[in-house]
Amino acid sequence: MKKNLVILSGAGMSAESGIKTFRDTGGLWEDYSIQEVATPEGYARNPELVIRFYNERRKQLKDVQPNLGHKILGELEEHFNVTIITQNVDNLHERGGSKNIIHLHGELVKVCSTRDPQNPRLVRELAEDAYEVKIGDLADDGSQLRPFIVWFGEPVPKIEEAARMVDTADIFVIIGTSMNVYPAAGLLDYVKPGCEIYLIDPHPVDVKSSLPIHVIRKGASEGMEELKKILLTQ
Ligand code: OAD
Repeated sequence: MKKNLVILSGAGMSAESGIKTFRDTGGLWEDYSIQEVATPEGYARNPELVIRFYNERRKQLKDVQPNLGHKILGELEEHFNVTIITQNVDNLHERGGSKNIIHLHGELVKVCSTRDPQNPRLVRELAEDAYEVKIGDLADDGSQLRPFIVWFGEPVPKIEEAARMVDTADIFVIIGTSMNVYPAAGLLDYVKPGCEIYLIDPHPVDVKSSLPIHVIRKGASEGMEELKKILLTQ
């Protein structure tokens, strides 16, 4: 029987694809402050700027490719039941071949209603040739379309589903996240006794857990190559 492999990924997963991480660049996201572009207050203050910012992020998706790390995770589905829990809003896990992906913080390729952002009936996926949202584009409830992103201060509706998956893990892998943002970072508390835990990151990560963790101090691609070898020779 295949083992359950559960991954928690963060911005570092996509760094080698050319997407900047958050905390490696002094709290700025592509030169904007998180307050400006990743909070409901920032959006209320300047919706034009926020909508333009996410249009640019969406445009960037067309210029980037999944890296070897994403691809190895896709390939591992042959050997394991893989679930990816990602804090990333890009679509590189999908494009790397992974099938079961929980996007904790939303998805760039989707838009939703400003009035009722988490109502699943009002969420829509944009076609690749229609990635640009304009002021005046409306959701089905008549309010402005906004990015389908979980901003700071907003509830994280997928966290319970993610916690249930972590609870089923035989192997849990943390990759490319500074483990600063909750509730995502708290998912480690849901691993069951006996679960093997790996952490892949080129920099030290302060993980608050007393559980034994195998640290692979490497970037996503090299780190996933090493992990693949370990997992397939066990
Ligand atoms: P961070 O920017 O906080 O952390 C990125 C991590 O990736 C750090 O630990 C880096 O050392 C590591 N890293 C850098 N290069 C890497 C590489 N080549 N391979 C592997 N790892 C590498 O990003 P997150 O932890 O993802 O939220 O941040 C969590 C959330 O905070 C994000 O989802 C976002 C952000 O503000 C929202 O947008 C709601």
